[in-house]
Amino acid sequence: MGETEKHKYRFGLVGKGISYSFSKGYFTKKFQVLDLQDHSYENFDLDDLSQFKNVSEQKHLKGLNVTIPYKEEIIPYLHQLDSEAKMIGAVNTIKFTKDGLIGFNTDAFGFKESLYPLLKEHHKKALVLGTGGASKAITFVLEQLGIEYRYVSRTPSRDQLHYSQLHKSHFKEYQLIINCSPVGTHPNSDQKPQIPYAHLNETHILFDLIYNPPETAFLSEGKKRGATIKNGLSMLEFQAEKAWGIWDSP
Ligand SMILES: NC(=O)c1ccc[n+]([C@@H]2O[C@H](COP(=O)([O-])OP(=O)(O)OC[C@H]3O[C@@H](n4cnc5c(N)ncnc54)[C@H](OP(=O)(O)O)[C@@H]3O)[C@@H](O)[C@H]2O)c1
Repeated sequence: MGETEKHKYRFGLVGKGISYSFSKGYFTKKFQVLDLQDHSYENFDLDDLSQFKNVSEQKHLKGLNVTIPYKEEIIPYLHQLDSEAKMIGAVNTIKFTKDGLIGFNTDAFGFKESLYPLLKEHHKKALVLGTGGASKAITFVLEQLGIEYRYVSRTPSRDQLHYSQLHKSHFKEYQLIINCSPVGTHPNSDQKPQIPYAHLNETHILFDLIYNPPETAFLSEGKKRGATIKNGLSMLEFQAEKAWGIWDSP
């Protein structure tokens, strides 16, 4: 029996350069633990999203995750968007249904679940480092939580800050700092976003979307000064569980 015939419930990840993805290991283990022998999870590493049609027409596919750099570009390939994915403008989960492909965003849920237990009364304003796809789900959640935010960018548009503009007063005002840039990801783990770390203290939360390495240089700088730190691993786990809930429901 071929692999495709054995696995009547196929899932996978669509992205570019994803050989070391978290999701394949996570779901493969999950299917083993649940003894779902007819379920499988595979990587679809696409150089170009025009190859997506070949993937989506494959037999027995029930669900896909989507990652860098396709979370926004994938939208025109879908038949329907869940309301939250529509508001965020990015999709990281696709469900195959008889009515076509439906897009969801579970990154927002993952971030909210991961951040919420850390928040204290004084965490009212956030600095969001980086303005790419991931930051959209993050700012969506900040709005839901009533946390004001300011983007920090290398090429700031109106209302955004440049890294060089960050001063002591910003760190009094903004006590939640979220790294939504890839700076510091393995193997470049000595790198960190260029913010004045000396102004951090125990009142701050530093949240890094990166999970490899577990403690980035950004988080280490915060930890040294007593800040609460959190990496992107539990966000990733929460978003994966939410995706599974979507795929596993009728
Ligand atoms: N834990 C999770 O569940 C989870 C989920 C989603 C994403 N992520 C992680 O979040 C990170 C961001 O994802 P993304 O899809 O938004 O990535 P991205 O589009 O590649 O980059 C995000 C932004 O980071 C800034 N940036 C990029 N390179 C930079 C550099 N060399 N120096 C300073 N800033 C730089 C850019 O903003 P400016 O041009 O405005 O500076 C860019 O738009 C990635 O590391 C990704 O793996 C984690």
